[in-house]
Amino acid sequence: MIEVSNIEKSFDGTPVLKGISCVFETGKCNLLLGGSGTGKSVLLQCIVGLMKPDIGSITFDGTIYTNSKVDIRQEIRRKIGMLFQGSALFDSMTVAQNVEFPLQMLTPEMTPEERRDRVEFCLKRVGLENAGNKMPAEISGGMKKRVGIARAIAPQCTYLFCDEPNSGLDPATSIKIDQLIHEITHEYDITTVIVTHDMNSVIEIGEHIIFLHQGKKLWDGTKEEILNATVPELRDFIFSSSLVRAAKRIDDETEGGIAAFAEEGDAGAGI
Ligand SMILES: Nc1ncnc2c1ncn2[C@@H]1O[C@H](COP(=O)(O)OP(=O)(O)OP(=O)(O)O)[C@@H](O)[C@H]1O
Ligand SMILES: [Mg+2]
Repeated sequence: MIEVSNIEKSFDGTPVLKGISCVFETGKCNLLLGGSGTGKSVLLQCIVGLMKPDIGSITFDGTIYTNSKVDIRQEIRRKIGMLFQGSALFDSMTVAQNVEFPLQMLTPEMTPEERRDRVEFCLKRVGLENAGNKMPAEISGGMKKRVGIARAIAPQCTYLFCDEPNSGLDPATSIKIDQLIHEITHEYDITTVIVTHDMNSVIEIGEHIIFLHQGKKLWDGTKEEILNATVPELRDFIFSSSLVRAAKRIDDETEGGIAAFAEEGDAGAGI
């Protein structure tokens, strides 16, 4: 579990995060939802330690991360896997070398054979067992995301952060990536935080959703609760999509409609 307590962050006197407190639950897909410029990426960067908050604290499973000693921070960082927006693969390395990279950085005690086995396992887990020798330029956007996920989980992360994992993907591929992240989260009991503005992801995998608006947390809850939330800013955000308006209609007309809606969208495995 990750606990964020009263985080504030300003740039040149302009407040971006205005006292955010929230909890990211273990073994769940926690979604950071909000419109453009609301501070989602800044909050994510504060949590993973790429940016320092002005005020507030962040705790990983009871260990305080903010302002801790370097060795404590490094220990927590070793447990963090990150799927970057746009995948951020190294173009000059093969798929397998990309996945092996964090193992070389973070787990020097592993032998080359152990690293090879781990890479093979992770690529198989994301459905890319035959793609290890390919270069990033030779694979599709959806496959790149899968490689990014394999790379993030390779060092057996406890915490997985995904910044806009669906950006640039078609809706069907997006759902498959969402489902893969969801499966991995449950399989390894990871605390997963996904930054998104995609309502499809909310309906598909939103087990715990935190809604940010203008640097403040205005609401948190589940995908079952979100369609009936009364916060005006959240309602404006979610019902700007006609897909969600349709989902809401189904929810109103049928008992448990939203769950049925999500199941209808199940697109199976593989890309
Ligand atoms: N390094 C920085 N220096 C100055 N201002 C910044 C910096 N990083 C972010 N900001 C500002 O903070 C605000 C929130 O930015 P952030 O990137 O967190 O938005 P976001 O919610 O992730 O939006 P999007 O959905 O478009 O990615 C913006 O006004 C942005 O200009
Ligand atoms: Mg962002």
